[in-house]
Amino acid sequence: MRAKIVAGNWKMNKTLEEGLSLASEVVNMVADEVSGDVKVVLCTPSIYLHAVSKLVSGKVSVGAQNAYEKESGAYTGEVSPAMLATVGVKYVILGHSERREYFHETNAQLATRTDLVLKQGQTPIFCCGETLAQREKGIHLDFVKQQLTESLFHLSNEQITKVVIAYEPIWAIGTGVTASNDQAQEMHALLRAHLASKYGQSIADSISILYGGSCKPDNAQGLFACKDIDGGLIGGASLKARDFVDVIKSF
Ligand code: 13P
Repeated sequence: MRAKIVAGNWKMNKTLEEGLSLASEVVNMVADEVSGDVKVVLCTPSIYLHAVSKLVSGKVSVGAQNAYEKESGAYTGEVSPAMLATVGVKYVILGHSERREYFHETNAQLATRTDLVLKQGQTPIFCCGETLAQREKGIHLDFVKQQLTESLFHLSNEQITKVVIAYEPIWAIGTGVTASNDQAQEMHALLRAHLASKYGQSIADSISILYGGSCKPDNAQGLFACKDIDGGLIGGASLKARDFVDVIKSF
């Protein structure tokens, strides 16, 4: 049985006050309305993590949107997984396409970050996904497989089972264009087969693979019903408690 997970990525949005009120609303609504085994993660801007970690409970945990690949030292402006652990962070998004594009994060850096996040006992949410140009050229499947190979395939069998993967086609992020259920399922099945080729089928079957990219209340149900889709990484729709909780209830 794979864990069902819905993570909200707030990106660089909300004031502290707005963030705390959104987090409280989500915690209360999840407690009142969500039954069954689903894990909910609020990936807030790092400056709010400490405060939000104090008000989450039940099915809801906090996650960071990034972490650096060193434990400590002269890296002005960066935050390490070890530091995140001290403020109650349980999940860390790694390799979001916005980080790869604007901050030039590489597969090799993300491999090191994954190691450090795992060392802290946190769950990496490892993002992968192709551009529209890559999909149109027909190289999207190989491109996404390579992202996994270069950042994750050094992990042991035990370590890989602690990783969550998020497939986020870049052309679907913040655009209102969602991958169709078939497009998403095709990629998720391919990712699982790729994991199986390295780690064996039973380990591959235990790893949660989330979909991200314009996932919202009116399309989440169809996506989450696909065999290899185990939840979502939600941007825009995680900024309103009602929408986010409706996505969570789409299982
Ligand atoms: P949107 O849901 O706004 O498309 O963002 C998806 C995303 O990037 C989540 O990490």
